[in-house]
Amino acid sequence: MTTATNIGILGAGSWGTALAHLAGTAGHQVTLWAYEPEVVASINATRRNPLYLPDSVLPTSVRATADLEELARDQALLLCVVPAQLLRGYLGALAPRLDTTTPLVICSKGIERKTLATLDQVFDAALGDAHRRQIAVLSGPSFAAEVAAGMPTNVTLAARDPSVARRVQTTLATRAFRVYTTDDVVGVEIGGALKNVIAIAIGAADGLGFGHNTRAGIITRGLAEITRLALSMGAKPETMLGLAGVGDLILTCTSDLSRNRQVGKLLAEGRSAPEIQRQMRMVAEGVPTAESAHQLAIARGVELPITEQVFRVLYEGQSVPAAMAALQDRALKDEWQA
Ligand SMILES: NC(=O)c1ccc[n+]([C@@H]2O[C@H](COP(=O)([O-])OP(=O)(O)OC[C@H]3O[C@@H](n4cnc5c(N)ncnc54)[C@H](O)[C@@H]3O)[C@@H](O)[C@H]2O)c1
Repeated sequence: MTTATNIGILGAGSWGTALAHLAGTAGHQVTLWAYEPEVVASINATRRNPLYLPDSVLPTSVRATADLEELARDQALLLCVVPAQLLRGYLGALAPRLDTTTPLVICSKGIERKTLATLDQVFDAALGDAHRRQIAVLSGPSFAAEVAAGMPTNVTLAARDPSVARRVQTTLATRAFRVYTTDDVVGVEIGGALKNVIAIAIGAADGLGFGHNTRAGIITRGLAEITRLALSMGAKPETMLGLAGVGDLILTCTSDLSRNRQVGKLLAEGRSAPEIQRQMRMVAEGVPTAESAHQLAIARGVELPITEQVFRVLYEGQSVPAAMAALQDRALKDEWQA
């Protein structure tokens, strides 16, 4: 949909590699930065990322590197796809190398621990005002493997500056990968971050053997609490009904591909959070986000009952049956009461 250009991608996990596949197949020259030297070597020698996206063969227009200097050099667009809690450190290293006219697209999902910052706030803090206009957020229902397989996918791209939104949209969109724009950066961020926490709750309910009623109830009440937090931070209500809200929530809460849902299932089996994380190579962003979202909600005076219970199970040793009971035993209220 646009002329070929240079795209840098920070992070070669499943999502970074799938985005490299998408952009490379669309004709762009892609520089993909990977943390693991074996991933760099494998992509450049065999066109595959065996650790994170083993079934996809990358086009020759994708080159992997371990060099941040090379990643930042002459890119028309830089996509940032490292785990949310690591982003600030990498931005610090990249800052002196970045051009202030290059759009920076946040593709990770989460809320930073301790600072409780959304990822665009992390960008602002790490990079300063010079890059503020260029920041964009890509979110929506988009499992990496399905994007890499070229399956029709619809996503949201949020940016404060409409010209940046349009530039990123036209660069990344393909016939299979349809990109909608919005200026609701905070709404898109909160939707993407909190749906992973709700997915843990869904997995836990599934793990206890509950059925479709329970799942649909948690998805709907999950959307209600995500919306409450997002609106308290200035988001637009319609964002919650869009791809980055209900769209991503449905994806994460109903598919076996969701790692956060898998985490919930394992918690229901009685495994502890540290034990589960030790066994997972992949990042389950809902785990750190449950803690930051819970603290953010307290700081803002917003009630997030499902998130609170996920936090208690992950960090305070609450059992999954006790967490489910705590949710069901809450005082009765009007459905739309804040
Ligand atoms: N996988 C998806 O389908 C998908 C879709 C949309 C958004 N996301 C988001 O993208 C982000 C990345 O997820 P993913 O699925 O690509 O990750 P992943 O779980 O597939 O891979 C983990 C990533 O973390 C990296 N990593 C681990 N330790 C590191 C370190 N010290 N420094 C730098 N990198 C390190 C690994 O190299 C790898 O890139 C997450 O925020 C996730 O929520 C993922």
